[in-house]
Amino acid sequence: MPTAMSTLKKIVLGITITVFTFIATYRIIVLEPTKGLSTEVAFYAIIKNSGCIVCHNSQGQLPYYANWPIVGKKIRESIAKGVEEIDVKRLWLIHLSKERIDSAALTKIERAIEQGHMPPFSYTILRPGSALNKKSKIIIKEWIEVERERLLPLEEGL
Ligand code: HEC
Repeated sequence: MPTAMSTLKKIVLGITITVFTFIATYRIIVLEPTKGLSTEVAFYAIIKNSGCIVCHNSQGQLPYYANWPIVGKKIRESIAKGVEEIDVKRLWLIHLSKERIDSAALTKIERAIEQGHMPPFSYTILRPGSALNKKSKIIIKEWIEVERERLLPLEEGL
């Protein structure tokens, strides 16, 4: 049955393309952020993808679901608490303007990443791919190292 076969082939081809497109996008966002990207660009992609700049952003807009029952209340509380702890978006803006970032803030991020409790489980459970994988953690650490070295001459008064 040639027609049935070609329909099946089309379906298989369609699924294959969809799956490959999905994998390619996923790899770019989550798995291979360094491929062809600088640490800086990869770092920003990670803090965006992992929600750091959703919950740690005093200037940010609330997510669209902030008014939904249950999840909305939870995210509003997390953002309020998160901003109180640290403003990651502000640190990023300081970085872009080439100003000095408080090194205690860098250490705070480093610790949170090492301890593995950021982003919170309540966030990652609802957003596949937002948890930090090994590679993302390495890139965050790399960025912190580069940032520290950049700050060193400033701190030594050179
Ligand atoms: C769903 C909101 C949310 C997301 C997403 C999130 N945080 Fe947090 N973060 C919080 C809250 C709430 C606290 C304070 C209480 C706690 O530790 O749970 C916090 C605390 C922190 C602290 C303070 C020290 C500590 O370890 O408690 C740092 C640093 C931090 N977060 C960094 C990050 C980074 C980096 C990311 C992204 C990889 C991130 N957070 C993602 C909500 C969030």
